[in-house]
Amino acid sequence: MEKLVIEGGKKLQGEVKISGAKNAVLPIMAATLLTDETCTIHNVPKLRDTMTMAKLLRSLGKNVDIEKDCVTVSSKGEISYLADYKLVSTMRGSFCVLGPLLAKLGIAKVSLPGGCIIGVRPVDLHIKGIQALGAKIHFEGGYVIAQSKKLQGTHIYLGGVSGSSVLATANVMMAATLAAGETIIESAACEPEVEDLANFLIEMGARIKGHGSPQIVISGVKKLHGADYKVIPDRIEAGTFILMAAAMRSNIVLRDVRYNHLSALVDKLEEAGVKVIKEHNMIRVKTNKTIKPVSVTMLPYPGFPTDLQAQFMAVMAMTPGISVITDKIYPDRFMHIAELNRMGADIRREGSSAIVQGTKAIYGAPVMASDLRASAALLIAGLAAEGTTEIHRIYHLDRGYEAIDEKLAKLGAKVSREKE
Ligand code: EPZ
Repeated sequence: MEKLVIEGGKKLQGEVKISGAKNAVLPIMAATLLTDETCTIHNVPKLRDTMTMAKLLRSLGKNVDIEKDCVTVSSKGEISYLADYKLVSTMRGSFCVLGPLLAKLGIAKVSLPGGCIIGVRPVDLHIKGIQALGAKIHFEGGYVIAQSKKLQGTHIYLGGVSGSSVLATANVMMAATLAAGETIIESAACEPEVEDLANFLIEMGARIKGHGSPQIVISGVKKLHGADYKVIPDRIEAGTFILMAAAMRSNIVLRDVRYNHLSALVDKLEEAGVKVIKEHNMIRVKTNKTIKPVSVTMLPYPGFPTDLQAQFMAVMAMTPGISVITDKIYPDRFMHIAELNRMGADIRREGSSAIVQGTKAIYGAPVMASDLRASAALLIAGLAAEGTTEIHRIYHLDRGYEAIDEKLAKLGAKVSREKE
């Protein structure tokens, strides 16, 4: 195992290139199951999660070649309908092979994803959507088995207890591309990654309208063909770097980023005294010497993203004054509180909220990463802390951030990756 060792207090400066969006790439790679033809996907970040999805596609019978940031998926014969527990249990995103397998083969047997440390992570909306398309569903030994000779278009409301679901929308939309007739998804997820998946499906010959809005309309087609597609930049990686600059009261430039995907974060940071300015396809971050504490609630897009909750909390932990951070998407996504408090932060959990009493300084300490975004929060805290911070179990970080230690070192941070 590896750890990150960070010497705190180094200002950041210069420019960082943002990689492709992990949460767009995963369903787009799954969508290649909908065709026997070759698909080429560009701007794919080199991450543990993208490698896991490549392994899963190979286990289903696809050829997957990875050349730098380009992934080529081709067929070598019939694909299997079984997505095995061993792989699906390591990455929840794998569950989005359910829709494509069912649509392509008329049957899919996919391991139910376990919960994970950020919450229970149910899949009831995925099942509801697939059933609405006419699939017969049953559960056996921790697997969901879905069968249908020919999926039928339907009008389905896909909103759940916490609003829309990103991967449930992805699963139903992918299945509907090959269903007979028209499918309307109400309360669809509006995340840019869902929109990007729809654009990839359209490149494959799917007929989709309204993607990026709460109502998506899919007209089924007989067959889908190969595609050549470039994935959007990762707004969560971009937001994480912007929050690092805010924590370090630094000015940096981000390259290859979509400003309009970051509106909720930009709005909150303006309130705090951090300017985030669009310059062509770059973003310049200008941070005041002192920033103000602000409160925020995580909501489905275009609301403030839950995937930036932990990172935002790390910045507020070092901003004197009170801020309240509420996560309506994952009310238990607070594993980072205990570790931040070990570094001298003063954060108290109240149900789905965290009350942050910002302090002037926090101190380096050995800390443990627990999940992807909590690890990013500890990294932000380590950059600003007085002294040395060691982050253990950084395989969590490598799931979703491409070469983040190298990118940070280029910005002037003192970060090194060492063997445990
Ligand atoms: C996607 O997960 C992302 N993962 C998550 O990013 C992200 O946090 C999440 O969307 C919310 O934005 C990928 O895209 C691979 P949801 P997903 O279904 O689709 C409830 C990261 O750090 N729900 O949109 O699994 C659920 O409990 C990861 O990159 C149901 O109730 O999340 C949650 O409260 C972490 N029933 C809310 O909906 C369902 O059937 C949103 O979850 C499905 C979800």
